[in-house]
Amino acid sequence: MAIGIRIEHLRKVYDSPPPSAARGGGFSFTAQRSAGKGEKKKKFEVVALEDVSLEIRAGEIFGLLGPNGAGKSTTIGILTTRTRPTGGRAFVGEFDVWKEQVSAKRLIGVVPQRPNLDFALTAREILLFHGAYFGQSARERTRRTDELLEKFKLTDRADHMVRNFSGGMMQRMSIARAMMHDPEVLFLDEPSAGLDPQTRLLLWEIIRDYNRAGKTIVLTTHYMDEADALCDRLAIIDHGRIIAQGTPRELKSSIPGGYLLRVRFDRLPDDLMAGLRALPGVTEVRSADHIAADLYADRGGPLIAGIAGAAQEAGVTLCDVHIAEPSLETLFLHHTGRSLRD
Ligand SMILES: Nc1ncnc2c1ncn2[C@@H]1O[C@H](COP(=O)(O)OP(=O)(O)O)[C@@H](O)[C@H]1O
Ligand SMILES: [Mg+2]
Repeated sequence: MAIGIRIEHLRKVYDSPPPSAARGGGFSFTAQRSAGKGEKKKKFEVVALEDVSLEIRAGEIFGLLGPNGAGKSTTIGILTTRTRPTGGRAFVGEFDVWKEQVSAKRLIGVVPQRPNLDFALTAREILLFHGAYFGQSARERTRRTDELLEKFKLTDRADHMVRNFSGGMMQRMSIARAMMHDPEVLFLDEPSAGLDPQTRLLLWEIIRDYNRAGKTIVLTTHYMDEADALCDRLAIIDHGRIIAQGTPRELKSSIPGGYLLRVRFDRLPDDLMAGLRALPGVTEVRSADHIAADLYADRGGPLIAGIAGAAQEAGVTLCDVHIAEPSLETLFLHHTGRSLRD
């Protein structure tokens, strides 16, 4: 039976810097309260998630797409019982991930953003030990280990220590380990970051394959092509908030016009803005400064002549045009004014 996931008004506030960040000073071990308001006053506070609600359906491939620092790993951390939510609730199947951690954990497999493999073990040992931990019989875990080593093209390295593996091989190992106990839900945090194109395609095939067996997959990515190619539905997350969700097709067609033309002039007077807005097929024109404008339109290239004409009429020089076809990137730009890659 496939398992769904429900997230209700999830909030996460970190009150100390991430472990990797350089620490500035000593510890603060008392939280001071400002009288009356009951608000904690702390040295450090990062709101990583702000009221996130989501429904991930049983048996789908669901993606969380967003730039660095958006809150993707924090969401995965909470869903996989590693991170305690500050507010709100999350359920894997019927289990509250914080209150019923053991039951929730049995249903899930996790591929963390950074592989945390035991360097003192061989590839085979890592899988066998993981299977034993989850109570598989010796026969079952041997069978499953061989099967996964084969699937991930690691058979010829089975008895090598993972210490000497390449980044791509460690990532494959990390995914194989997460699949070892055949979990109903597989979480993958940025599974293809840093992978070569070939391994990435292998990974996509493995994910699709696992999903076809009725498993629910939740992955995070900052690659829009990956989200587009792999996910049945996705949520776009930025600064701890969901800014859009739906199927890739729905999301792409939700942008007014679909095409985005980013144009730059030597200056951008009001009459030129008006001229651009009046062009056929243009649904929206935005300008963040005095020389550049973003046109959302139902066509791309055919608009250039009109844009050049409008510029000439206003006595302005057209310096640059960039056309983007409907994509998740243009959707993100539309909602945030920034590029996913910024
Ligand atoms: N363990 C942590 N302690 C303190 N702050 C953290 C921790 N993990 C993440 N953060 C902060 O929370 C925000 C969201 O981070 P994260 O969930 O890792 O985003 P993403 O995975 O989308 O890059 C960032 O500002 C990050 O610095
Ligand atoms: Mg992350």
